Amino acid sequence: MAEVVVPLSRLNQPRDTLARPIRDLRISVMDRCNFRCPYCMPQEKYHERYKFLNSRERLSFEEIVRLSRLFVKLGVRKLRLTGGEPLLRTNLPDLIGELTDIPGVEDVALTTNGVLLARYATELKAAGLKRITVSLDSLDPEVFARMSGGFGGLEDVLDGIEHARRAGLDPIKINAVIQRGLNDHTALDLVERFRGTGVIVRFIEYMDVGNRNAWKPDVVVPSKELVNRISEKWPLEPLERDYRGEVAERYRFVDGTGEVGFISSVTQPFCGDCSRARLSSDGVIYTCLFANHGTSLRDALRSGAGDDQLLETIRNVWLTRTDRYSELRAELRDAPGDHRKVEMFYIGG
Ligand SMILES: C[S@@+](CC[C@H](N)C(=O)[O-])C[C@H]1O[C@@H](n2cnc3c(N)ncnc32)[C@H](O)[C@@H]1O
Ligand code: SF4
Repeated sequence: MAEVVVPLSRLNQPRDTLARPIRDLRISVMDRCNFRCPYCMPQEKYHERYKFLNSRERLSFEEIVRLSRLFVKLGVRKLRLTGGEPLLRTNLPDLIGELTDIPGVEDVALTTNGVLLARYATELKAAGLKRITVSLDSLDPEVFARMSGGFGGLEDVLDGIEHARRAGLDPIKINAVIQRGLNDHTALDLVERFRGTGVIVRFIEYMDVGNRNAWKPDVVVPSKELVNRISEKWPLEPLERDYRGEVAERYRFVDGTGEVGFISSVTQPFCGDCSRARLSSDGVIYTCLFANHGTSLRDALRSGAGDDQLLETIRNVWLTRTDRYSELRAELRDAPGDHRKVEMFYIGG
């Protein structure tokens, strides 16, 4: 039988079935959260009796670092820590220090709801974090309370952003999920507040992640609509994407006061360039935010698998990846069968 020779580059830098490389790894370090944003973890589903993972079930820092090193061998260059709320994970700066030391890692980022950021900003920066993304959906205290499920305070988040700025985290990006009839009337306030400060506001289209947020297409505010509304007040011009696979479409203010971004996974899906894998807090790898199944690396890790065996598992997961949910959303949502997806707080946003 003829021997099949797989080029080394294909083994070390695997491409999925749509020729997409693996470049980004999002690591959920904590499935719990101190907010209950209705679009992510609605309080009625995630109440006091909801069973989150226990600390033994979550990957340890040592396990996260080991897996990250392996992902880097396969092409990952950027790591993002997320959750749930990542700042609820004890000693998170220690993990950041270890991840930034991995040869080949070009960027370590963090997404947080910001409520604990004032306490940790300096420590995070000292550990090696350079930049940060803070989620903030509205500057109106009542709207903010509705969007965060009534937990946490707007002033704490703003204070967190100020501490991040003073600590030297740069850039600071603000993620705002916009929903029609809920906070779309306050979207421009965010632009007004942060324009000219160096802080970059990015608007995210409300997505049908998970199964519990009762998503409906008519609640999505298309980015185009927001671009037009903002442009009427502060003229904008489009910027080139910084790199292939960048999720945000960027615009600069013509008057030179900075830029604003739009993440339009519903109206302008970007699956074609998606190079992201996600690792849940209990060590399951998912190849799409809208996936309905993943592959556990923790079980292999804890039953003594060597690096080569783990590499092989991750490589195979990537080589067989076919996901392009956002491009097929309408078809998949209407198709008969089971459409249960993993929840975003669990695999990391
Ligand atoms: C899941 S959160 C995890 C990190 C942290 N707790 C936070 O809120 O920044 C990551 C990001 O996902 C966004 N997100 C959550 N559910 C979403 C949805 N249904 N549609 C769009 N974005 C969503 C959040 O607004 C946040 O910016
Ligand atoms: S979006 Fe972030 S802050 Fe809000 S419930 Fe989800 S994980 Fe928590």
